[in-house]
Formats: sequence, structure tokens, C-alpha cells
Amino acid sequence: MASPGSRRSRRDAGTRGDSRCAPDEPEKRAGLGRGTWSKFLAVGFVIAIGADPISAKGENPIQLENAKAGSGDWQLTRVRVDKAGYRSPWIEGYCSRQSVAPGEALDIMVSTDPPARFRVEIFRTGFYGGLGARRMMDLGPFEGKAQPIPAPGDLRLRECRWEKTATIQIPPDWPSGVYLGRLTTMPGADDQPYWQSYVIFIVRDSRRADVLFQCSDSTWQAYNRWPADDSLYTDPRGAHARGVAVSFDRPYGRMPQYTGIVNDPLSVGSGEFLCFEQPLSCFLEESGYDVTYCSNSDCLDAAQITRCKVFISVGHDEYWDVRQYRATQAAIEAGVDVLWLCGNSVFAVSPFSDSADGRAKRVITRVGHFAGLTDEEYAKAERTMTKDWKRAGPDEGLIIGARTVMPANGGGDWICAKPGHWIFEGTGMGRGDAIPGLVGWEHHGAPASLPGLEVVAEGTVWSGGVNPVRWTATIFPGPRDNFVFNAATVFWCQGLSMPPGHTLPWSHWSRPHGPDPRVRRMTHNLLRRAIGE
Ligand SMILES: [Fe+2]
Repeated sequence: MASPGSRRSRRDAGTRGDSRCAPDEPEKRAGLGRGTWSKFLAVGFVIAIGADPISAKGENPIQLENAKAGSGDWQLTRVRVDKAGYRSPWIEGYCSRQSVAPGEALDIMVSTDPPARFRVEIFRTGFYGGLGARRMMDLGPFEGKAQPIPAPGDLRLRECRWEKTATIQIPPDWPSGVYLGRLTTMPGADDQPYWQSYVIFIVRDSRRADVLFQCSDSTWQAYNRWPADDSLYTDPRGAHARGVAVSFDRPYGRMPQYTGIVNDPLSVGSGEFLCFEQPLSCFLEESGYDVTYCSNSDCLDAAQITRCKVFISVGHDEYWDVRQYRATQAAIEAGVDVLWLCGNSVFAVSPFSDSADGRAKRVITRVGHFAGLTDEEYAKAERTMTKDWKRAGPDEGLIIGARTVMPANGGGDWICAKPGHWIFEGTGMGRGDAIPGLVGWEHHGAPASLPGLEVVAEGTVWSGGVNPVRWTATIFPGPRDNFVFNAATVFWCQGLSMPPGHTLPWSHWSRPHGPDPRVRRMTHNLLRRAIGE
């Protein structure tokens, strides 16, 4: 959720560290699959000297994919946004679906204002020896034109109906992953500049992978202010007014988040992916985990989740359809392990609906909130929640282990509370040991009353830099010897890797430091147990 404190201007504090995914020590690598320790050690040695760590031959689709040559040029170089900061009219676009399976068609719509020739390059993001992406397809050149900005409709909905630029038939050999389409204008003379932005889509599959990685794309869209401050947070009635809607049929602007969190020009058109999902994806693929990717919109029934051993909610996963809640609840009952590597998750109730031309799940409408917050907390937060707030879903704490508390955002250290627990094995962490700045920009607290629930870490975040709020990381057992872990911070992924294109966030006068061997080891411990190694 947004708070008044999140609206302040960002300082240029997003200092970048190592531009590559940070390697782990050999004993901390998962290798996963069916490898041997000697293989892990060999892989670790290769990493230590900086060579491709996946070259020790992969066995699952992710290992095989990452053995292919990556691209050293997939980031945006020249980005320009309009004065208001919400869009990139020189070149911007969107896709016809959030996710697409091999064999299915995906339309890409692009606008260039003024009209300009342009090209589209498609990349799959991953590890690829630390390069972070692989070139998959080049399209164009195309003759671009300015496409119309839709007027706001009912519920303040702005839905583009742009002419399509290209249709991609997803090839059968494109692995599941998060794909970026880089749009680049092609000026006719050397003395004219070029401009760039991204489109983004997910390739999904239906195989029985170990890990299901759910991108938080409904939340990316909820915070997308394209074209003129049109996110779910900019209704004149208040930041959390009910009955406002946003469409996926529009570009992601420069500021998918409020200034101060994800305000990196490198991200234009890609939602919040480069800030929150990418470091986790890079870590998983570097480590060789058998991972498959999906959109929030793919998880409306339990079968999507139960095909995998472990389900991960990533980063900032605030906007959920109640059907997602029921599917996740059923998956936990069925024995799936769940990792909530996120904060402020399952907070706003936002059912999917069709686009005006009948394409499914292209609109989300905020109708209320899940049931965790108390009436007292709502009363204190009335300025952002508005008076017409309404509980419109079940208690999110029952599937997470904790929930959003008020104030919902802030920054602080992640502090060990139960050092004997298996999640801390190999980290060397004792009670009170802290990982600086890892908690933010939103969190979970107020642990649920669930049998066997343990608080493994807890501490304070400071909202607005000064107002203390308690947060708690938890773990509780499922009915089939499975478990549900809640890291209680949007920033958990910042502790895992630092791929090219990634910029550390900054919020509430606090910031994470980037990759930390303790965060990586805890994540390995959780994944290994979930996968059964
Ligand atoms: Fe949020």
C-alpha cells in the first residue's frame, strides 16, 4: 500500500555494487536436481574464477537454458520521460497478455510520438553467466506512429486499444521465464538521438517443476501511473478508495511505484520486475533450481500451484483476487511449501475482469481489503484508507503467518530471534544479529494464531524514518509435513543477487545493502527442504 511518507522525493541513494549476480560459496550452492557434492564443488570452483557456473552441465530446463550464451546488451541506454514523469511518449508499448504459453500468440502494441521508425528486441531474463539475459528474437524495423491516449472511463479506467505492431507466436523451445522486449527508435540521421523503453511478458508452462515463481504483476499495474497519474492510488477520494480500476492494456510508465522506491529510468516499461523479481530470479537460475514462472493472473486455481513443490510470492505482491487466496490455501492443504519472500502481500482485494474487447483478466478493480487489519488500525489510517473501506476477503495472515500492519511501510534491520531454527543453519547468526536495511519498504507483522507457528525474526521498522512499527518473520507447519515461511519484507530479494540492470531501492530513509551470504543461505535452506534434498 502507499502512504503519505512514500510520496516524498527520492535521493539518489541507489548506489550500485557489483554488477553481476553474486556467487555463493560452494557449500551453499543448491545445484539442485540430482547433482552430487563433487559436482557442486566443481561448479563452485568455476564460479570462484569467474567462469560460467552452469557449464558443469545442467539437467533441468533452467540449467540447460542458462548454459546458452547470454547477451551483454539488453538494458536501456537512452530513456526519456515527459515532464510529469509518468510516460515515455517518444516510444512506449504494451503486450496483449500478462503471460503466454509456447504455441500461443502475443501481440505487441507500440506508439511513437513523434512518428518514428523503430525495432523490437526480445530477451529472456535469467543468469546466463552473470549477464542477466539472452537474446531470443529481433523484430522490425517498423514505421511507428502516435497512438491515442484513452480517456478515463468508469472507475477511472484507461484502456488502450492500439493497433498492433507485431504478433509473436511463442516458439516451442522458449523456456518459461520473464521476457523483456526492448523498443528502440531508429533515427534517420546520425545527429538525431534514439530513445528506448521496454515491454514485458511472462512465458509460462504447465510442467511439474520444483519451484513456481509468481511475478507480482497485478501490483506492478496497480502502481502504474501511466499516462497522467492514473494508478490505483491517485483517486481524488483517497489513496485506498474503493471502486477504482486499472487495465493491463497500457504501457508501464517510468514510475510504477511512488517516487522513492522504484524510480530508476532503466525500468521504464517493465513494471517493478527489475527491482524486486529480477534479483530472486537471477539467484535461482544461477543456483540451478528447476523454476517455472507465472503471472498473478495464472494462479486462480490450486492446480496451477500444486504442480510444483514450492510456491514463491515475490517482492511486492499486494494485489490479489480472492480466487488466488483460495487456490493458495488449497495448495497449502495439499502439501505445497510456500515462501512469502515479500511484504504487504495479499492486502488489497482486486478481482480480475475482462477488457472491453473480451480478453480475460486484463483489468483489476480494487473493491476492498483482506481481513487482517483491525478496526483500530483502519481508523488510524483513515487518511490513506478513506472512510468507505471495506473488508472484502478472508484474513491473509492465515495463509502467510503474519499480515500487513499499520503503518504498512518503513525501513529497518532484519533481526534473528530464533537462532536454533533450521532456517539459520550455516548462517552463523545468533539471537539479535541483524542484516542491515533488509526490512522495507513494506513488511508483515502481528503473527497469526496458528498451531505450531514460530517467530524466527522480528524487529522494528521506522515509518517515515521515525515512527516505530513491529514486524515479524514467521514459519508454520502445513498439514502434510509442509511449511509456510514469511520473510516479512519486500526487500528480501535485495539480499540474493545484484544482476545487471538492478538498482537497490531506497525508502523511508533506509536502504538494503545488496547481496548477503546469510540471506542466500537461508533461502537455500528453505528451498532445499521444500524440494526434499
Ligand atoms: Fe504495497
